[in-house]
Amino acid sequence: MASFDNIVINTNLATFSAHYGFDSKDKDNVHYGQLVDAAIGIKDGKIAWIGSNEQMTPYLSHYQIAQIKDAMGSWITPGLIDCHTHLVYAGNRSNEFEARLHGASYQDIAAQGGGIVATVSATRAASQEEIFAQSEKRLLALLKEGVTSIEIKSGYGLDFDTERKMLTVARQLGDKYDVHVSTSYLAAHALPPEYKDRADDYIEQVCEWLPILHQEGLVDAVDGFCENIAFSAEQIRRVFAVASSLDLPVKLHSEQLSDIGGSALVAEYQGLSSDHLEHLSETDIEKMAVSNTVAVLLPGAFYTLRDTKLPPIDALRKHQVAIAISTDCNPGTSPLTSLLLAMNMGCTLFYLTPEEVLAGATVNAAKALGLSHKGKIEIGCDADLALWDITRPADLCYQIGLNPITGIMRQGQWRKTL
Ligand code: NIG
Ligand code: FE
Repeated sequence: MASFDNIVINTNLATFSAHYGFDSKDKDNVHYGQLVDAAIGIKDGKIAWIGSNEQMTPYLSHYQIAQIKDAMGSWITPGLIDCHTHLVYAGNRSNEFEARLHGASYQDIAAQGGGIVATVSATRAASQEEIFAQSEKRLLALLKEGVTSIEIKSGYGLDFDTERKMLTVARQLGDKYDVHVSTSYLAAHALPPEYKDRADDYIEQVCEWLPILHQEGLVDAVDGFCENIAFSAEQIRRVFAVASSLDLPVKLHSEQLSDIGGSALVAEYQGLSSDHLEHLSETDIEKMAVSNTVAVLLPGAFYTLRDTKLPPIDALRKHQVAIAISTDCNPGTSPLTSLLLAMNMGCTLFYLTPEEVLAGATVNAAKALGLSHKGKIEIGCDADLALWDITRPADLCYQIGLNPITGIMRQGQWRKTL
């Protein structure tokens, strides 16, 4: 047997890999790809060996105590992946939360100059250091729950310098903390006040800034907000055309409040994901199935806006579109920094199964970010793992407000403090 840097014994694995568990007669085993009484070996930051505890036991004497973790029957999942967040911003919008409690809608607030544009003013006014200090608290809350990869969007700058500032802070967070950060350029998030009635001119700027920020290494993907209170599919198409000329993958906020063709456009560009989707049609689901685009569902926004229109879960299942779940952490529609709570909401509000929701925060979230070596426990994949004091994987979706994490490994190293 090869030598390992780290080993975990006496564990149960929810692998989310098609290589494990799927042939089992055990019904419980079908979706998690689960292996019970297992052990796992890690080498050079990757998963190097997966097998039964019994197979590993004779080799334990070759290792030092510090290299061996006895999980004592607890569970390992892939490290969680939060694939849709706006966690870098300044200020907050609890005033809008109060206004909504008095009956104002999200659209009313946006029309009166609040909403996204209010956070834009706060983010433009704040220094890079201030934005970093405010954002790192949100990141730390997510990391404590076993998040090992996260997507972070720009989109509260809406001018070149502030979009750059946001993306820079996202990169700095990834440098300072033990987490993989994927950035998305979301300058097409809202129309800044200085471009009032000139949306096409603004889109032209968005298209001009993109190659520069990409050149600076700040952009991993390109996003937009396709909605009647934001940009049309034709305007987003212009941004996607530039993204594709730079070989950057695309994704989109689509069909959150209405259906104006966002997901169809994403599918045309073979996009990584289409997100929100409450108003998505079956025709466009078929297009997403063909383009292998992930449906990212955001129950925190559904909950906060007291939405009543459910995303078309059955049709997504029917056409086998991969479903991911994310916090959508943002100051307006989803001030949520708990992926475990988003997973619980995915079950309770969207009627997803725990298996679907867990796949949605691991393997399918990785797919939504184009990270083919993350989100599953498979030989050769990154050793990003979460160790949980639970008796079955569904406990992670069922318990509300309890964080059962007992260990986090990233790139083969156990995190020193949780
Ligand atoms: O994902 N829908 C657009 N963007 C965010 C909300 C941003 C905000 O209100 O600040 C979302 O819901
Ligand atoms: Fe969002």
